[in-house]
Parts: sequence; structure tokens; C-alpha cells
Amino acid sequence: MISVTIISKSGRFQTSARAGTRLRAVLDKEGIDYSLPCGGEGKCGGCKVRFLEGAPMSYVWEEAHLSEKEQAQGYRILCRTVLDSDCVLELGEMHSDLSELKTIEVGGRDNGQGTYGIAVDLGTTTIGACLIKQETGAYEVLASAATQNHQRKYGSDVISRIAAAEDEAASEDMERLAAADIEALVKELAGDRDLKTITIAGNTTMLHLLNGYDVSGLGRYPYTPHALGSVKWPTDIVLKNIENLTLCELPGISAFVGADIVAGLYTIPFEEGKKFFFLDLGTNGEMAFYDGERLKVTSAAAGPVFEAGGISSGMASVPGAISHVEIGPGGSIARLKTIEDKAPVGICGTGVMEITSELVRCGIIDETGLLSDEYFDEGFPLTEDGSIRFTQQDIRNVQLAKAAIFTGIQALLEGEVPDKVYIAGGFGSNIDPDKIANLKMFPGAFDGKIACVGNTALKGAAKYTAAVLSGWDAETDADRELQLICESAQVIELAARDSFDEEYLEAMNF
Ligand code: FES
Repeated sequence: MISVTIISKSGRFQTSARAGTRLRAVLDKEGIDYSLPCGGEGKCGGCKVRFLEGAPMSYVWEEAHLSEKEQAQGYRILCRTVLDSDCVLELGEMHSDLSELKTIEVGGRDNGQGTYGIAVDLGTTTIGACLIKQETGAYEVLASAATQNHQRKYGSDVISRIAAAEDEAASEDMERLAAADIEALVKELAGDRDLKTITIAGNTTMLHLLNGYDVSGLGRYPYTPHALGSVKWPTDIVLKNIENLTLCELPGISAFVGADIVAGLYTIPFEEGKKFFFLDLGTNGEMAFYDGERLKVTSAAAGPVFEAGGISSGMASVPGAISHVEIGPGGSIARLKTIEDKAPVGICGTGVMEITSELVRCGIIDETGLLSDEYFDEGFPLTEDGSIRFTQQDIRNVQLAKAAIFTGIQALLEGEVPDKVYIAGGFGSNIDPDKIANLKMFPGAFDGKIACVGNTALKGAAKYTAAVLSGWDAETDADRELQLICESAQVIELAARDSFDEEYLEAMNF
């Protein structure tokens, strides 16, 4: 047996294992949380850990993702690491338990009157929830909380999780993890209050995994969901440890335009003759255009870049993540802002977008996305010691994502100009459209019309929860409204358009 010491944000932990055991297996056995952005395929390099003592031998997958210097410093790729001797390793920020971020903000005073419910946004990365109180016609958000989605060890995006779910044990584990995360939030928010209902919005894959549905149809053409309609369960059918409540799951439109988007659209007023564009800047870049009469929806496979996935120094929006950047003369850093003003440890989604836009503005990236000679090999340094860099590959990943979004927007607009543009999602709530203008992700038709509206999936779930708490008539009206959104939406298949490849390639430029 060998001795394995693990240092994480929650402390130092020692265990033992047989030589030849995979590091992943040791962490699973000990119930230690970690993140595998590509689901452990060895493709992304996003699961780095650092051995302080007893680093195992480096393999070819390490060479693909880690510099010689990093390997010498003891960095290895967690998903492929096999332990061969006594060791001490540090899990690092990207594996840190984001549930520590759980926050509760009390929005109103609770006088103990009224009825209570919980709204949940079951996101791929983060699960958000809020406590709703309904009293005499108006509803109030009393508190909100969030935790990471602990399915992240099966991959950071829905594609990796669908692939992982081919293994029955992994699929069951993901079902259990999602239910446990939701139960923890519900218990945290509800305290000793009597709840009447819980509403869940989420993308189609997340709701499938939560319900234990087969997700294999979501991963291959023609992308057929097991079910899309709204469902109302007794809670304990899905959330084994919460009884005597009604669990309402909102309906979705397609495999890639799910209940989270329907919930978002449910928060926006549809006015005849008024055109609006709705864009959720998550992994799938789901979007909708209402032309004052008809509703069209699509999803653009943008990848995880908006959450800094696939970026060499990318990380979640946690303290120390670079979120805003301004570049000065000669490529100097004029301003660098990190979350909570902590020492920089990586780059989060808004930082990724702002850096790219700034590098374009300063001419350090050319129109085709090429970094200038000076930075081409090693990347553009964001910190004095050069430990955080923005590389050519990072820029390519941003180009792929922004081109997917731009092409999707153009396909839905078909030359029309919206009166209003709503940008939703965690990333969407933090961007300043002027600061990312050089990305050319949005068409000119959006100029001056963008409103960042935050987590509309949670807001929609909250609105529905309030309707349920108001009584049967309000619930029936809400169901009808959601059904109308789903039935009237025309799904546009981007890749099926003849001009798609050409438009996409053109949109890669800055
Ligand atoms: S390389 Fe390990 S999760 Fe992607």
C-alpha cells in the first residue's frame, strides 16, 4: 500500500491505496469532489493537479497539455494519473468545492404569513434556487442560494455527461448527485417553513438525468429526447428525501432548447408587433427571435468558452479569477480586475471575452485571430511573472464560440432588426457589451438595444412557482402560457442551412 496525502481547500487528508490505483478512484472512494471538464477523456488538460511530493511518471497525455516546466513542477492530468508511490498532491482552485460559494440573500421580511415554494434552475455548471413567498396576489423572493452541480466529475458540458451516461452506474450516480444538490438547496432555503411546491427549470439533458431518463437519443442525430412536456410528480419520486410536495418540471422545446429557455421566454412579455431577441450565453448558446408574430428558436454549439472552459488558464467565477482587463500602450496591462480583488489565479468567462476584445483593439490579434509574432509561441502574459497567459489556442476557441453565436443570431434574424435584445445567463449578467464590441459576436442590429437580464431560467421558475402558490386558476393559466411558447416555437437547425459553413467561417474573423 502507498500513502496518499491530498490537500484541498477544505484541508489536508491522508489515505492509502494500492500502487497502480487511479487517482480518480481514490478521490471517489474518499468522497472528495473534483472537476473533469472533458469527462476524463484526456483531451482538454483542464483537470490539472500538482504533486508536491512523489509525482508519478509523466505520460504522453501530460506532454500534450503541460509544458516541460509544469511537469517538472509536479503538475499532472488528474483523469489519467495512476499512483505509483507515496505522494502528496494539491487539488488546486479548479477542483475546489464551489458549494462554498453558496450564498443566501434575504430579499424581504418574512412575517410567517402566506404560502411558500422553491424555484430551481438546474444548470450544467451551477444550480441556483430561491425561496418564494406568495401572499395576497404578489410574490416575493425571500432568499436565494446556489451550489455547483456535482455532476462535474462526469464532464463540464452536456455532451460529456451524455457520453458518460452510457455507463449505467454513472447515469445513476448523476441522477443521485443532481437530486442531492437540489435537496440540499431546498433544505437550506426552506428551514422549518411548510413548502407547497418546488419548480425546476433546466436544460433537456439535466432534466433527463434528474428523472433517470435515457439520454442516449440526445447525443446523436436526430437528437430525440425521451420526453419534453411539463411534468408534475410527487416530490419523492425524483427527490427521494423530500416528501408530500408537488414537484413541477417545466417543459422544453427540443433536445437543445430546453425548459431553461422556455422559463426565460416566460419572463419576457410577448407584445404583438414588438420584436425581441433572447440569447442565453451558455454552453449551447440557445436563442430565440420573436418577430412580433412568430417565434423561432435555435441553439448554437458554442462550447464552454463563455464559462472559460477550454481556455488554458480558464476557471470558474471564483475569487482570484481575472474578470476585467484593459490593455495599454505597447501591450502593457493598464487595468486588471479579479473577483473580490484577490491575487490572480486564472481567467473567468468575462475575462476571456474582454482580453480577446482588448487584444483585437490593440492590434495584438489580427483580423483572422492570429497573435502577433512576439506572443505567438508563449501566449500573451496577463501577470508579471507570466504564470497566466492567453494563448493562440485560447483565441481559436473564442473564435469558434463567437462565430457559432453570430451565425445563429443571423439565421434567426434573417435581416430583421429587433426592438429589444435580452441576454441571459450568469455570463450574460456580467458582460458590458461595449467592452466586448471588438469580438464582433453581435450584429449591428443589436447596437444600443442590449439588456442583460441575469438568470432568467430561475426567474421563470420563480414566476411559475408563484402561480402555483396562487391557486388553481393561476396555475392553469401559467401552464397554458408555457404550452403556447413550446407549441408555437419553430426550431431552426443551423447546420442544415446551405450557407452555414460559409457564414460560420466568415464569422470567425474579428
Ligand atoms: S484532460 Fe482530464 S478531464 Fe479533460
